[in-house]
Amino acid sequence: MIRSIPVDLGARAYEVLLGPGLLEDAGAQLRPLARRDRVAVVSDQTVWGLHGPRLTAALEQAGLAVHPVVLPPGEQTKSFSGLETLCDALLGLELDRGDLIVAFGGGVIGDLAGFAAAIYKRGADFVQIPTTLLAQVDSSVGGKTAIDTPRGKNLIGAFHQPRLVLADLDVLSTLPDREMRAGYAEVLKYGLLGDRSFFTWLEANAGAVLARDPAALARAVARSVEMKAEIVIADEREAGRRALLNLGHTFAHALEAETGYGEALLHGEAVGLGSAMAFRFSAAEGLCSPDDADRAVAAIAASGLPSRLSDLADRSFAAQALLRHMAQDKKAEGGRLTFILVRALGEAFVARDVDESRMRDFLKSEGAV
Ligand code: NAD
Ligand code: GLY
Repeated sequence: MIRSIPVDLGARAYEVLLGPGLLEDAGAQLRPLARRDRVAVVSDQTVWGLHGPRLTAALEQAGLAVHPVVLPPGEQTKSFSGLETLCDALLGLELDRGDLIVAFGGGVIGDLAGFAAAIYKRGADFVQIPTTLLAQVDSSVGGKTAIDTPRGKNLIGAFHQPRLVLADLDVLSTLPDREMRAGYAEVLKYGLLGDRSFFTWLEANAGAVLARDPAALARAVARSVEMKAEIVIADEREAGRRALLNLGHTFAHALEAETGYGEALLHGEAVGLGSAMAFRFSAAEGLCSPDDADRAVAAIAASGLPSRLSDLADRSFAAQALLRHMAQDKKAEGGRLTFILVRALGEAFVARDVDESRMRDFLKSEGAV
């Protein structure tokens, strides 16, 4: 069954379609959005090798000529040099502002191609066809696009909403288990931040979701996208409530910065660990019950995600270095540390005045030196 979840942003409104078999239907879905009979498809080598032929056949069947731009996989592609390569390829194709750009891949391709679309000839339309669980439940929805710089992640970017998101659950069949777990951290995040009953359902169904049971996966992705859409509709530019989506992220970004944004610690793994730390810190500060914190941490650990610093074997973290990254985080204002903390399972809030010395003590209690 195909579900449609509207992201009602007025003039920038679009639908997220999710379900099985959507790749085969891509031509019919994209044809009405393309002003000319050609599309540029931006992908990475892995995704293109696995699923490119099916997408190409579907688009060609609808009369759309496909111009692939295939980049190396990995976070390093989401960089100034990756952006330059992509923009140069789009210019080389003589792509017009009226031609559609399709982001076909995980969050790296979605963020990069979305940003290129935002600035290409002052703005082109783009469509997201996310192929990782993380991209389907989070990065493809909501219009945040960006690249990284050596000074940090996602520091150069734009809000640019896609015209359509096609989340084909079948493409997840080829996703490595580790990437599936990393995406699951973002699914859990929605329950942890705002829907206790969804969290309770996930406690019982994590195994089925991770095993890609069609019904469980569809329910988990649909509820996640509904929550993301609801939050983005209420606060497109992150003036307030959208910041709740960053549960676990201030910890996560600091840990990713220390581990080099790569294979050592995937973004979703860092979000899982960061969410566990946010719950433990909230409990230590008396903001949330230890029982709720224990349940959150247990669910993160049970899904195979790291939930303690000690789960990252052979790594040691300096509290001072982590604090330095936390202070540079985009969410830090006026030198105070900003975190998303919790009052209970499903009740996150923005804490803008976290005391640095209490955070240092907490990080040391977690095993940082
Ligand atoms: P990714 O795009 O690097 O994909 C992970 C790996 O899986 C890659 O090696 C890719 O080639 C491979 N892959 C993708 N789909 C596959 C499939 N169906 N089968 C087999 N292999 C497949 O990583 P990601 O986790 O999807 O995204 C992480 C990025 O997303 C980070 O840069 C993060 O900052 C960004 N992000 C953005 C937002 C946002 O709102 N824009 C939100 C969350 C994360
Ligand atoms: N992934 C965080 C956001 O979209 O706001």
